[in-house]
Amino acid sequence: MESIEIRATSIKDINDIMQIEPMSFGASHWSRSTFINEINNINSQYLSAEIISSQKKDNSKIVGYIGYWKVLDEGHITTLAIHQDYRRRHVADILLYNLICNASLNSIKWLTLEVRVSNIAALNLYKKFKFKHLGIRKNYYQSDNEDAYVLWTENINNPEYLEYIKGIISPFVNKKANTDKLQYTIPAKQLK
Ligand SMILES: CC(C)(COP(=O)(O)OP(=O)(O)OC[C@H]1O[C@@H](n2cnc3c(N)ncnc32)[C@H](O)[C@@H]1OP(=O)(O)O)[C@@H](O)C(=O)NCCC(=O)NCCS
Repeated sequence: MESIEIRATSIKDINDIMQIEPMSFGASHWSRSTFINEINNINSQYLSAEIISSQKKDNSKIVGYIGYWKVLDEGHITTLAIHQDYRRRHVADILLYNLICNASLNSIKWLTLEVRVSNIAALNLYKKFKFKHLGIRKNYYQSDNEDAYVLWTENINNPEYLEYIKGIISPFVNKKANTDKLQYTIPAKQLK
């Protein structure tokens, strides 16, 4: 079992992030300078999932990240990626849950995003979090002209919705001893 903590992304995370970007988005991945601009943008919020090593503190690394832009009372999810070795262990569930809570505290009512029509993993994830299809943007992705679905949430401040998404991540939550910090214990990778 391994634990992760979710915290605001910082410039020192960029080396780890730049390992995950190409394996997640291929030729159309973001550059280092795009990330630096995004992290420094006062209208953006990025969160990192950091592995917590019980032995050495300097052993920790980033295995996933997510972010959004705030535009009035709307949040636009700009990216989400998980290191290949850590996929299917609920890290995206945990990051998306934390992003929604962060956005709710940041006076955001609705979240929106674009996703490739072929991205079954991401579409299932957003469906699990009750994102709805709002429409389709034809030829949205410049690299290959693939279409994007536009997804949209209900009002994320609805207490029933917040309770529902809490249920998704509750099996993984652990309170760190002697602090208010939460850690998430992620299940071991299933052998195929
Ligand atoms: C999409 C992505 C972020 C999912 O991350 P992950 O940590 O593996 O996802 P989780 O383990 O938290 O799974 C959460 C849910 O997503 C869905 N899901 C994730 N991977 C899936 C897959 N390979 N096939 C089908 N559904 C999948 C499931 O609904 C899953 O819930 P379940 O385990 O209860 O069935 C990851 O595959 C990734 O980084 N892909 C490349 C980048 C990308 O496509 N980002 C999204 C851009 S919009």
